[in-house]
Amino acid sequence: MQQLIIYGCGGHGQEVAWIAERTEQFNVIGFFDDFYQSDTYLGYPVFQDFSSISKHNYFVVALGDIDTRKKVISTLIENGFDKFPSIVDPSAIISPTTIIEEGVVVFPKCVVSMNVKLKAFCNINVGSTISHRSIIGSYSNICPGVDICGDVSIEEDVFIGAGATIIDHICVGRGTSIGAGSVVMHNLIGNSLYIGVPARFKKELGGKQ
Ligand SMILES: CC(C)(COP(=O)(O)OP(=O)(O)OC[C@H]1O[C@@H](n2cnc3c(N)ncnc32)[C@H](O)[C@@H]1OP(=O)(O)O)[C@@H](O)C(=O)NCCC(=O)NCCS
Repeated sequence: MQQLIIYGCGGHGQEVAWIAERTEQFNVIGFFDDFYQSDTYLGYPVFQDFSSISKHNYFVVALGDIDTRKKVISTLIENGFDKFPSIVDPSAIISPTTIIEEGVVVFPKCVVSMNVKLKAFCNINVGSTISHRSIIGSYSNICPGVDICGDVSIEEDVFIGAGATIIDHICVGRGTSIGAGSVVMHNLIGNSLYIGVPARFKKELGGKQ
């Protein structure tokens, strides 16, 4: 069993700990959170100092905010922690042709169909579906109940709010956010907010990188 530390004592962190335990592939040995005010979280020890952790341990960064997640991953790598497993809940249905890169978390009841690629450190939240040949970019956050149809390309750092639908053959540009419940019918440029049914441009967002 891999010895796993969950980075982030929050709601996301507690769900990821639960999923990791459900897989029976990981032994959750604790959380890491330098802002948390207690020695334990959910009965697990909370680490606040890298020097007390073996470099052989595995980390999952359980932070919803994309920019914060990226910064934390860089910090971990700078400190010599470079083992980021992908964690897939046992209730998820994953096609045998799916490619899952490091640091990905797939939450309960997701369905990931044929020839999908989940790029590093993206999150596929509860009950989302991803159809054939779609690509989910690195660090992107797919919130609960999102439906992504076939041949969709989601670039890096994209946030898709709960319950949104992306129809087939759509490209969503890097750093874009899509509001909860939106239905995306056209390609979306990067670094912008789109909301509604059909999803319409709302405003530009600051460049993520
Ligand atoms: C799209 C979103 C990011 C916008 O947040 P925001 O920039 O703070 O925008 P505001 O709340 O100020 O709303 C701006 C306007 O858009 C509207 N709006 C916001 N989100 C909307 C949505 N999802 N669908 C339709 N309209 C929406 C607001 O009613 C408001 O309209 P107004 O200008 O006529 O008053 C946010 O509303 C959203 O949908 N977040 C997703 C949350 C989610 O899925 N969480 C799951 C976490 S796991």
